[in-house]
Amino acid sequence: MKNKKKLTIAIDGKRITAEGGARLLWVALDNGIHIPNLCMLRDMEIPPAACRLCLVEVAGKPGPVTACTEEVYEGMTVWTATPTVLRLRRTAAELLIASHPTNCPSCGKNRSCQLQSLAKSLKLKLKPDRLRPLLQDIPIDHSHPALLFDPNKCLLCGRCVWVCKEQSDLGILQFTHRGFETRVSTFLNKPLAETRCTGCLECAQVCPVGALLARE
Ligand code: FES
Repeated sequence: MKNKKKLTIAIDGKRITAEGGARLLWVALDNGIHIPNLCMLRDMEIPPAACRLCLVEVAGKPGPVTACTEEVYEGMTVWTATPTVLRLRRTAAELLIASHPTNCPSCGKNRSCQLQSLAKSLKLKLKPDRLRPLLQDIPIDHSHPALLFDPNKCLLCGRCVWVCKEQSDLGILQFTHRGFETRVSTFLNKPLAETRCTGCLECAQVCPVGALLARE
């Protein structure tokens, strides 16, 4: 059982009252302090900590930590935009951008894509000069009547895997392969239409980019 006692923390010099046991990421966002994030969802009990965008510095900790995994405690002192944090956050974002195709105008998520917003907020180009693109060439799954799945656009944030398991307990979408080959797919890489996917579209709703899209 979590300690729900009210406590006081400081983020970027701002004193904030929070509930004991709350995640630092949500406390910051709920108090108007923006910390970029792509993989965590409010209902997740265990943060996947996959995107590494929510790095912050906390007094007393030897290095930056992810705000989505940190629980607040009395007297916690946090900085969200130190030079170290900004440098690491930009690198994490550049890695995500380098692994994502940039044919944005033809993507169904153009202008509502969280990667586009992230690049804009960090003043990064969608074609980074520093990193070689690490794109994949995986067939797009057009099989399902309600859902379009383009694994080449996937950032491996894991939101869809989590929501698919929560929604149906079927876990139709899962992580498969390893290392650089890791991807989100179905059991035995079957087309979605050959799985028990009901087309609830929860996965498309949580996908931050256009990897999973509701079909028109
Ligand atoms: S939101 Fe914290 S690592 Fe992705």
